[in-house]
Amino acid sequence: MAKPRSTKSLSADLVVVANRLPVKRVENDNGDLEWRTSPGGLVASLAPAIAEFNGVAWLGWTGEDTTRTVAPFVLDGMQLVPVRLSEAERELHYEGMSNGTLWPLYHDKVQPGEFHRHWYEGYRSINRRFADAAAKVASEGAMVWVHDYQLQLVPDMLRELRPDLKIGFFLHIPFPSPELFSQLPWRRALTSGLLGADLVGFQSPSDANNFHRLAIGLGLATRTSRSGLDVDGRAVTVRSFPIGIDFQRYDEAANDHAVTEAAQDLRAQLGQPHTVMLGVDRLDYTKGIDVRLRAFKELLADELLHPSQVSMIQIAEPSRDQVDAYVSLRERVERLVGEINGDFGRVGYPVVHYIHRTRSFEELLAMYRAADVMLVTPFRDGMNLVAKEYVAARVDESGVLVLSEFAGAAHQLKDALLVNPYDIDGVKNAILRAVEMGPDEARRRMRAMRRLVKKNDAVSWAAGFLNTLRSI
Ligand code: F6P
Repeated sequence: MAKPRSTKSLSADLVVVANRLPVKRVENDNGDLEWRTSPGGLVASLAPAIAEFNGVAWLGWTGEDTTRTVAPFVLDGMQLVPVRLSEAERELHYEGMSNGTLWPLYHDKVQPGEFHRHWYEGYRSINRRFADAAAKVASEGAMVWVHDYQLQLVPDMLRELRPDLKIGFFLHIPFPSPELFSQLPWRRALTSGLLGADLVGFQSPSDANNFHRLAIGLGLATRTSRSGLDVDGRAVTVRSFPIGIDFQRYDEAANDHAVTEAAQDLRAQLGQPHTVMLGVDRLDYTKGIDVRLRAFKELLADELLHPSQVSMIQIAEPSRDQVDAYVSLRERVERLVGEINGDFGRVGYPVVHYIHRTRSFEELLAMYRAADVMLVTPFRDGMNLVAKEYVAARVDESGVLVLSEFAGAAHQLKDALLVNPYDIDGVKNAILRAVEMGPDEARRRMRAMRRLVKKNDAVSWAAGFLNTLRSI
């Protein structure tokens, strides 16, 4: 990896603006702190674009509370521009408005959100800080790509400062119906914020359609076509761009000898013969972790599954643990895990293996390879990349994916067993069907899903968005 170097005068033809930088500060072998790029994710999808542009900059929060400005630096050919956030600002912008108001509302109010004027004021002032920083970094006529719900006011703020820029926005999470969105006291400002972009991208056609209808309904735009809007004489395109993963990275790594061995060890530890079921999620109330645990518990109680023949691994990555709803979810999930193991486990043989820690890429791959059945049951999800990761890791074309129809991925992965997570009997039936599915049917389904995930990968997603923005 290239050594980071500081940079004084920044100028980029492509500016990515996201809540977080794609780097983490980690301790190196000498005990010093250094920045490391997080592999995979958004940054990998942009790698080919870096060569195409005359300078790429990425603006974002480092994840550390600070009142001091951290100097920009260059890492792996990309200019990284840290945007500071103090603890008090984080509480208003990140935990408050972003994850206490917008996140639950955009996920169909799976949990009630809170509306607070001071949260919104904090959100607006942080959006202003991101817009000011982007305006400074972007070269004349540059493309700026703004990401996600934490920064919805940025496109319009930036357009005012720099009308010469081409501005794109992509929402990684679902966009709600206009009826639900209209509960927001700041609905006009947040919609106008997005309409400052030339291209507004969403995960699915229904998300795009919701926004299109909303903008017209609020009288902020007029319809020019199914994906076109007119905003005071300026054209805005609204379209879906379903996000993909770095298929090749998962496919190659899953074939690695060490990963294959780790998967075999894991299965041996769990006992044989055995069906292994897996859930991998951030510990978030939208993910339906409790749904699959309840379904599993009932199947064991009904004696349709036997504890000596099946086990479940649930990875629940810690997330947003300063937000109350996440604290109570953790209690709920851990109580359920305890109940299942108390009722059905034996000494040395729990039926649910619950891990509340972040796992490494290699460990995750070994789990994907060890799992016969993958359970992805969110109440609502923009895409759900875990579903695609599982498919990419199934290099032997076996394995069954149970997938919520309310995940964006369900629009593409039609060969999964699709379930309604609100219908517990439906989830139970799908789990049973997955456990009992014959190898030929499983292979046919997995093969079709692998083709799709490979074709629609992260690089083609980023290229699709950027090429559309360029052509506007
Ligand atoms: O899905 C939206 C998202 O913001 C992702 O971009 C991110 O990986 C995830 O949620 C977790 O977000 P954070 O830890 O930044 O709140």
